[in-house]
This record gives sequence, C-alpha cells and structure tokens, in this order.
Amino acid sequence: MTTETKIIVSDVNKTFVLHNQNGITLDVLSNANFSVASGECVVLNGRSGSGKSTLLRALYANYLVDTGNIE
Ligand SMILES: Nc1ncnc2c1ncn2[C@@H]1O[C@H](COP(=O)(O)OP(=O)(O)OP(=O)(O)O)[C@@H](O)[C@H]1O
Ligand SMILES: [Mg+2]
Repeated sequence: MTTETKIIVSDVNKTFVLHNQNGITLDVLSNANFSVASGECVVLNGRSGSGKSTLLRALYANYLVDTGNIE
C-alpha cells in the first residue's frame, strides 16, 4: 500500500489585529482551500501584502490560523 504525502489546506482564515493602531483587523487569509501533492511544483503568486509569507508561515506552524485546518 502506498500513501501519498500531501499538504491539504481547508477553509483557512487568518487575521491580524493591530493593537497599537486602534485595533484595526487585517483579514489576510480568507477561506484558503488547496492541496499540493508530493512532487508537485506550485507557484504562490500575488501582490505585495496579499499574504504569501503569512500562508507559508502557517504551513510550517510559525503562525497559528484563526479557523480552518492544515494537514
Ligand atoms: N506578524 C504580523 N503582524 C501584523 N500584521 C502582519 C504580520 N505579518 C504580516 N502582516 C500583515 O499581513 C498582510 C500580509 O503580509 P505578508 O507578509 O504575508 O504578505 P506577502 O504577500 O508575503 O508580501 P510580500 O510580497 O511583500 O512579501 C500585510 O498587510 C502585513 O502587513
Ligand atoms: Mg512575503
């Protein structure tokens, strides 16, 4: 039996609250859903500030997400 290694991102939401700027909330990741198979090459593309680094940090558990699931 073979089990394929995958990254699975399901319904992930992540906000930042800027406590020193009147508690402004930044909705950075909204309902992120995708999967990446073992050996698959994907590009994470988006304008500056769109949340690419935040998403990667969530994938390696440097940032916790508010809701959703990462396997
Ligand atoms: N630790 C943090 N605390 C508060 N806000 C944050 C934090 N990390 C990121 N942000 C905010 O989240 C948003 C997304 O930032 P992020 O660094 O993920 O973008 P990016 O797509 O990687 O941008 P770039 O292309 O410039 O690297 C930005 O508004 C950023 O200011
Ligand atoms: Mg970045």
